[in-house]
Amino acid sequence: MTFAGVISVALFALTFGSGDSQVTKSLCVDATLSLIDRQSFTADLNNFAVEMYKISTLQQQNDRTDSVFSPASIAFALGIVLQGADGVTRAEIKAALVPNIDNIMLSASFDQLLSALNSATNQYELSTANKLYIKQGFELLSSFEERVVNCFHTTSETMDVSDPEATTQQVNSWVEEQTKSKITNLISPAIVTPYLRLLIVNAIYFKGEWATPFTTQHGANTAKNTFTGIDGRRKETDFMSMTNNFLFVQDSSTSVLGIPYKNDELHMFLFLPTNPAGFADFEASLTSAKLSKLMDAAKNTRVQVMIPKFTTKSEYPLKNVLTAAGMKTMFDPMLANLTAISSSSTGDKLFVGEAKHKAFIEVNEKGTEAAAATFVAIMTLSAAINQPTIFFANRPFVFAIRHASSGAIVFM
Ligand SMILES: *[C@@H]1O[C@H](CO)[C@@H](O)[C@H](O)[C@H]1NC(C)=O
Repeated sequence: MTFAGVISVALFALTFGSGDSQVTKSLCVDATLSLIDRQSFTADLNNFAVEMYKISTLQQQNDRTDSVFSPASIAFALGIVLQGADGVTRAEIKAALVPNIDNIMLSASFDQLLSALNSATNQYELSTANKLYIKQGFELLSSFEERVVNCFHTTSETMDVSDPEATTQQVNSWVEEQTKSKITNLISPAIVTPYLRLLIVNAIYFKGEWATPFTTQHGANTAKNTFTGIDGRRKETDFMSMTNNFLFVQDSSTSVLGIPYKNDELHMFLFLPTNPAGFADFEASLTSAKLSKLMDAAKNTRVQVMIPKFTTKSEYPLKNVLTAAGMKTMFDPMLANLTAISSSSTGDKLFVGEAKHKAFIEVNEKGTEAAAATFVAIMTLSAAINQPTIFFANRPFVFAIRHASSGAIVFM
């Protein structure tokens, strides 16, 4: 059921750009954002979303499984890294994430998107939050700190990197709280080393009920049927079915269905290639412009709908995906330019040591629950002066027992 990734792209596409322009806090307003500015910001982020989808499915190759991810969550974490980047590293992140947005519009754009996503409603739950975990004694530049606090609505806490278990629990329990326990164990103790300086974490949560639930009182029913996966494998699964008015459009290659959530402000869009064998071609031809065009063209239509119930969890190490998207130097300890995070006078040369994304989605008769979280670990290679070299075997290792005089390895 690899359409799950596309669903989250669509969800993201529709959550911004509607509504009146908002007044933002003064620090983030370098310029007034017009509707056009906000639309080009979402267009950039949705391009990024489709790019991430394509790269990650390409990297999975023959090992395709059900997948889901939240491009918004990854974009917020990278948006914060962008605030701390300079030189080539900054140019790379900007080109991959927000190529068409003026520098002076950047923080205001993220600020307004966060406000839009977090605006309260009693019809559905949607919330996203950013958090910094800062190593005790590691000082952020005030320009960086002010931007991420004010424009990325970030809160911060210090972390004790000499206590990996406690720090892991501190971070993971915040993520669990933000995601109603749908995302657990985002970080592992192995990343909490004396080289860790800063963790940038985003969490996002969505829960919405269908405007018309797939329940018997609405003439719906759920029954077993066969789902054929990308690899041709067939599996029996529960399909929900109902005849009702939905958003629908069909072009020569794709049928598009939009199922409204209560309040009609959010829809889940499903993109189904007309040719059952055409999924690979469909994926290859995906662009966010194409998706937007199809979603915009969908009209209220009476449709008999049969869609699978599903629950999916995915986990993406981001380093390969982001590198393939052009963000190379930030992972390179020598080439990374994250000089806008902290003053270089402390002697720390910073780089992104690790980045990871986890996501969850459940689609059933009542609606959808989805959650995701992302972390980016900012590290340094240089241990503080006069500190002993550290050997911290808190991750898998290989051992060998060698017989000294003969040099033979006797156990390994
Ligand atoms: C980071 O980029 C800025 C602007 O291009 C440059 O002046 C600075 O030397 C770079 N620093 C590092 C450590 O690469």
